[in-house]
This record gives sequence, structure tokens and C-alpha cells, in this order.
Amino acid sequence: MSVISLPAVPAPAEAAPSRPIPAVVGADLQVPVKGGRLVPYANLDYAASAPCLEPVSAAVAAALPAYSSVHRGAGYASQLTTARYERARHTVRAFVGARTGDAVVFTRNTTDAMNLLARSLPEGTTVVVFDTEHHASLLPWPDAVRLAPPAFPGEAIRAVDETLAEIEGPALLVVTAASNVTGELWPIAGLAHIAHRHGARIAVDAAQLVPHRRLNLAALDLDYVAFSGHKLYAPFGAGALVGRPDWLAAAAPYLLGGGAVTSVGARDTSDRDGSDGAETLWSDDPEVRHEAGTPNVLGAIALAAACDALAATGWTALVREEERLVARLRAGIAGIEGVRELSLWGPDHPRIGIVSFTVDGLTAREVAEALSAEHGIGVRDGKFCAHPFVRHLLGTADGGCEDGTASAVRASIGIGTTDEHVDRLIEALRSLAATDTRVSS
Ligand SMILES: Cc1ncc(COP(=O)(O)O)c(C=O)c1O
Repeated sequence: MSVISLPAVPAPAEAAPSRPIPAVVGADLQVPVKGGRLVPYANLDYAASAPCLEPVSAAVAAALPAYSSVHRGAGYASQLTTARYERARHTVRAFVGARTGDAVVFTRNTTDAMNLLARSLPEGTTVVVFDTEHHASLLPWPDAVRLAPPAFPGEAIRAVDETLAEIEGPALLVVTAASNVTGELWPIAGLAHIAHRHGARIAVDAAQLVPHRRLNLAALDLDYVAFSGHKLYAPFGAGALVGRPDWLAAAAPYLLGGGAVTSVGARDTSDRDGSDGAETLWSDDPEVRHEAGTPNVLGAIALAAACDALAATGWTALVREEERLVARLRAGIAGIEGVRELSLWGPDHPRIGIVSFTVDGLTAREVAEALSAEHGIGVRDGKFCAHPFVRHLLGTADGGCEDGTASAVRASIGIGTTDEHVDRLIEALRSLAATDTRVSS
């Protein structure tokens, strides 16, 4: 089906960035605190899910009137929606600096993307992963070689080098670009180099990186990246797996159903091996083969709108503002007795806008609940779906998952975070830590 030309859809923003940092929907949200008073919400939980950018909300609203089925309909609205969906794929491809020919498969989120990759590995592939990973990147590979948290970045490269040297056959290194626990940036360029020297591939969990830093897959020589829209200011249920098409094209379709096939014959077939089996021919194009069923069109449009908005603003302005706020937050926390920031590689290692910490004498849950109930501040507490890593950082490697004292509090920031939010958290922690001192002395 030929798709009509579309003056209504703006071109992806690849031009020189210059727009002001966009606003987020809900910036004026008021929440109740103890006593029933309403206060402006201080959302410091961006690493879990970031608020929607206004341009993202506007793009979804603009797409809705013509919303229709994709890839199938001959009607104008269907063609328009199909064009928007495929343009979203193009925008996402450009946003992560993918190579020509890389596949962009829309998924539900990073977890979904990593599971798709796990199902696409050639037989006999050995996966290597650090114990520092988020569960989304730790768990999809049941027989993975798991490496201990490295004491410094060079140690990560050395451990991968030694491990891959022992592996025969295909290998895949899976590593996060920015930790969801400490915010620390991993040496992904060096790891990619080592992986390739051993003939292995590298898949990068970029869920926390892409909302905060520019990622250039081709320049970093990464094979795959995965990320989620809801952490990228586009909370409409789409994510993406971007990368080399060959393993994906050879793998069994992720879901069996309409849209992923080129033809279905008279006989039924239930094989998932990707061959034509009894009668069914599955598409060789990974973007078709692994997107059976009606895709999340609005999610993809939202994801692309977020990519456009960040690209149009420019990373220099975004990073400068984030670094200013993170420095303010970390300096404030460092000045409070009894509050300890978690870090794998020390206070000077570069990081994104995530700061996790503990407060002496209080469980993470007590701190998080007090911040919410008394100060209108939203943070996350627990082990952040990175149980082995948090246990390592807390020195409770054998501790039970449900032990509230073996948990941490995480404050995370992004577009829309203000000085007042940061200062309110610091003041609140100061008073909580002081309260604890009075109780225990
Ligand atoms: C580093 C990292 N990877 C993967 C995920 C999983 O993302 P999702 O829940 O969107 O699949 C998260 C979510 O917190 C994360 O922080």
C-alpha cells in the first residue's frame, strides 16, 4: 500500500537544537500532607516514571482525531496513522544514532525489549551480565554468567575481557549505561570495544541514560539498546529495542499472529521457529516479524515526540541544568549527619540525576513515607528491582529481600525539577535525621 504525503506531521527535529526546556504536564499538582493541607508536589521519582512532557501530550492529542489502524487500512486516517507510526520509528532511530539498517522494534518497555532479545539469541549464545543490573537486564537470560560488581570502571572491562576469553561460540554482554540505583555512568564504549575484540556483541540497557544524556549507538559501536517511553517523558506504554537486524530476523516471532506474517496457508501451524513450518511464512523484517497484532501507535508517537522535544532543546542545556541540580542535592545530602549516599565508584564518578541514600536509624520505608506525608515529596524506597546490587552496596549480601532496613531511598530528578524541590528534600532529611538523633540519644 502506498502511503500519502503528510504535511500535517512535523519532520523529526534533527536541526540545530535551540528551544527552551519544555514543561511537564502536572507541574502544578497539589497533594495533601498531614493535617489535610495541600502543598505543591515535589516529584523526585523520575527514575521510576518521568512525567509527560507537554509537547508529548500535544503530539498525542494531535494524533487522536485521525487515529486509526496501522498497516492495514486504505482509508485516509489509516494511511495518516501508519505514516505517523513509521515516522516515529524513524525518529527513534535517529534519536539513538542507529546505523542504517538497524532494526527499531517497538516494545512495551525495556523489560519487553530485553525479553525479545533473549528470545532472539542464536543457539548456544552465552550471556554475560554484572550483578549490578536492573532485573529487566539480569533475569531474561537464565544461564547467564554473572559477574560481581566491579570495584572501579577499569575492573569492569578487565572482568569482561577475562570472561569472554573463556567463552566459545556466540556471546552477548548485557550492561546498563547508567545505574538506576546510583546514577553512575558505565564505561560502555570501552566495554563495547572489549566485547567486539572477543567477537561478542553488547546490548545496552539505556532505560536510565536516554532521558539524561545523548546516546549514539553507531559512534559507541553498540549492537543493541533498549529503553522505555515512560522514563523518557512519554508515559503511553511504548519502548524500543534498536540494533542489529540479523539475530532478530532469524529468531522465532515474539508473538504469533496477524501483522507478522507474509502469508498463511490452508494448514494450521503452531511452530515458532520462524521457518515456514507447515504453511505459514513469517516476515523476515524484524520490525514486522516481532510486532504481531495491532501495535501501540499512540505510544510510539509519544515516544518519538519526546525524542523530538529533547533533541530540539539540545543536550547541552539539559545536561547543564541537571548537573546543577544534582550537585545541589548531593552537596545538601553530604552535609547531613547520618545520611549516606550509595555509590559503587565513589563520589567523583560521573552520574545522571539519581541519588540513593540511607538515613541512620530509620528504614527506607519510614523515610519515604515521612517525606510524602509531611512534605509532599515523592521518592522511591526499596531495592529498585536491583536486589543483588543494592545488597552489595548496603553490605547485606545475604540479607532477605523483605528486610526494610536493607533498603535505600532514591531521589531522582529531570525536566521540571526545581531548586525548591531539591531544597525541600534536603530540609526534610535534615529534620528527619535530627529527629532520629533525639529519639536514640
Ligand atoms: C536501568 C533500568 N533498566 C530497566 C528497567 C525496566 O524498565 P521497564 O519497567 O520500563 O521495563 C528500569 C526501570 O526502572 C531501569 O531503571
